[in-house]
Amino acid sequence: MCERFAKETDDERTERRRFLKTASALLGATVAAPMVARAAPQPKVVDISHIPLDGLGTVDFEGKPVVILHRSKQTIATLERDQSGLADPGSHSSQQPKFADNPYRSKVPEWLVMVNICTHAGCHTNYQQRMESGAGGFFCPCHGSRFDAAGRVFRNQPAPWNMEIPEYAIDTQKKQVQLIHADRVRRLY
Ligand code: FES
Repeated sequence: MCERFAKETDDERTERRRFLKTASALLGATVAAPMVARAAPQPKVVDISHIPLDGLGTVDFEGKPVVILHRSKQTIATLERDQSGLADPGSHSSQQPKFADNPYRSKVPEWLVMVNICTHAGCHTNYQQRMESGAGGFFCPCHGSRFDAAGRVFRNQPAPWNMEIPEYAIDTQKKQVQLIHADRVRRLY
């Protein structure tokens, strides 16, 4: 009797171990699943060799439209001229990478890489090679905000801040931009 009881207990113990093993494996899979879903976004390499001077390329990155503007010497010169018409020429109020802390808001003056989302209500802007000022810039068709060719907003516009500069790397020899991150800007819209 005792021997049979002991044998049944062993069976039960084996069964319980099997159950616990399966349960913990399932639990592990459940915990691991969201981590896979939240994997870090992958950098994106963009060929910029085809973008003409003062021309624009657009690419979707992390669900946002990123524009790459190939600025001519004349356009670059307009960024260095009188900046009194700009709301925040030094981009002190805008969140942007350290490397963009210059009048061009870029790593290389010839190339602007920017998230093309107006900081007023999130519309996409259009690049115009000649705005009223005579220089190139971005115009928002929704409520009329104007930005210069570095994405800096002019004074007295609906948009409160300069447009976002993403994290990126650029290889001017290979004519490639590597987009790394595009979500540092404060959420307004
Ligand atoms: S969304 Fe651009 S001005 Fe309103």
